[in-house]
This record gives sequence, C-alpha cells and structure tokens, in this order.
Amino acid sequence: MELAVALGSQFRPLVFDVCKQEEIDRAAAELGEALAGAPLAALVNNAGSAEIGPLLHVAPESLRRQLDTLVVGQLRVIQSFFPYLAPEGAAPGRIINISSVSGVGINRFFGCYAAGKHGLEGLTKTLRDELTARGVRVVVIAPGNIATDIWPKQTDTLIEPYSDSGYYPELVKTLHQIRTNTVKNAMSVEEFCEVFYAIFRNGKPADRYTVVKKRRRRFLSRLRVRVIEG
Ligand SMILES: NC(=O)c1ccc[n+]([C@@H]2O[C@H](COP(=O)([O-])OP(=O)(O)OC[C@H]3O[C@@H](n4cnc5c(N)ncnc54)[C@H](OP(=O)(O)O)[C@@H]3O)[C@@H](O)[C@H]2O)c1
Repeated sequence: MELAVALGSQFRPLVFDVCKQEEIDRAAAELGEALAGAPLAALVNNAGSAEIGPLLHVAPESLRRQLDTLVVGQLRVIQSFFPYLAPEGAAPGRIINISSVSGVGINRFFGCYAAGKHGLEGLTKTLRDELTARGVRVVVIAPGNIATDIWPKQTDTLIEPYSDSGYYPELVKTLHQIRTNTVKNAMSVEEFCEVFYAIFRNGKPADRYTVVKKRRRRFLSRLRVRVIEG
C-alpha cells in the first residue's frame, strides 16, 4: 500500500467499510493488537460520499446508503473503537467528526448529503454531552469546499436516472459548475490539512470549527483559509 511505504512502519493502515460491522470488528481487533494496551489518542471519522439527485426523485435506497455511511457508519466505528479511546487509568483520547458546511446549510440536489451531515451534527452534540463525564472531547470540523476526489466522483452517469424528471437541465448545469467554479475556488487539501492538524494538536479545542476559503487573498496571509469556532 502506497501510504504504508511512504509513512513507514509506525503507520498501520486499517482498511474497512464503515457500513460493515464485521469489517469494523476486524479492524478494531487489529488496532487493539497494535496499541498493545496503550490508549488511542484520537479517532477521526472522515469517511464520506455525496449522492446527487433531486429529492422528489431520488431512490429511497440512495438516502439509506447516504445515512448509513455518514451517520450510522460513524457511530458503528465510534462504538467499536471507544474502548481504546478511554481505557481505565489512562488520559482519554478525543473524537473528531468531519461534518461539512452542509451540516447546517444545504446545496440544491445534495439533499441526501445534507440529511446525512445534519444527522452527524445531531449525533455529535448528543455524544459530546454523554461523554463529558468520561472526559472524551468530541469535536466537529465542518469544511467548505476542498479540492479532493469527492468532486471528480460526480460523473454524468449519476444524473442519468433524472433525465425525465424536469430537473435534468439544472442538474447538467450543477455538474458543470462543480467542474469549473467549485473545484477552482476550493481550498487545497494542504491548506485544509494544516488547519486540521492545528485543531488536532490543540489541547483545548472548541466544540465545532467551520473551515472555509477566505473571500480574498490577504497580502500577508499565507493560508487562504478562514477558521470559525462554532
Ligand atoms: N471535499 C469537500 O469539498 C468536502 C467538504 C465538506 C466535507 N467533506 C467531508 O470530508 C470527508 C472526506 O471527503 P473527501 O472530500 O476527502 O472525499 P473523497 O476524496 O471522496 O474521500 C472520501 C473517502 O471516504 C471513503 N469512504 C466512502 N464511503 C466509505 C465507507 N462506507 N466506508 C469506508 N470508507 C468510505 C472513500 O473511499 P473510496 O474512495 O474507496 O470510496 C474515500 O477514501 C467526507 O466526510 C466529506 O463529506 C468534504
């Protein structure tokens, strides 16, 4: 695996589908072996995908799949890895859930995604409350657009089922917009990772961070990203 070669023996990739409990169980057992009694410092829930489609026409299965990945899957992983985050007698680790600006807002034709991210935000707030007594911090990071593979994955094939829906011309425009403006104006992965790492290292993190692109590039500012607490 490419990352294992690049990062060396301290890196242990755990490959699993967050929708498959048996795969998560196998990964959790492997993690336990690797930790050998040491506590897990942090669990970052990043897995995600974005289903496009007008809500009057999307198949219920699309919504179910989206919620399984973005909400249920995240909780499966949290439940299965939690024993390593808060073992008896050790300083507790933290949970970082990657939400989105769609965790509070919406984008037309991405209703399934917004439902998933809104769900993740509700789940996170409740979990934060329930874990206060255990000393485990639960942080949400809600990015705006980042130039990752999530955008090239929005292919023409995905809108074909809606060709007779009346929304098709607007869907075609949306895909065009994604391929031009969205990707062009997105923050880079490097910019996001720099902010992510600062939050990850912060000893007293806020409950929630919105991370968006700055409207204008400031002369003296190296990072073109704005971080808003809350
Ligand atoms: N990029 C943005 O503009 C943006 C903005 C706000 C929030 N986010 C969030 O950031 C997170 C990372 O997304 P990204 O932008 O980096 O997109 P990405 O490049 O498509 O990466 C998403 C990753 O999640 C994995 N994944 C999807 N479903 C999974 C499942 N059921 N089990 C395990 N892994 C799964 C994907 O694996 P495969 O490639 O094998 O499918 C991929 O490695 C997501 O939660 C996304 O919602 C992204």
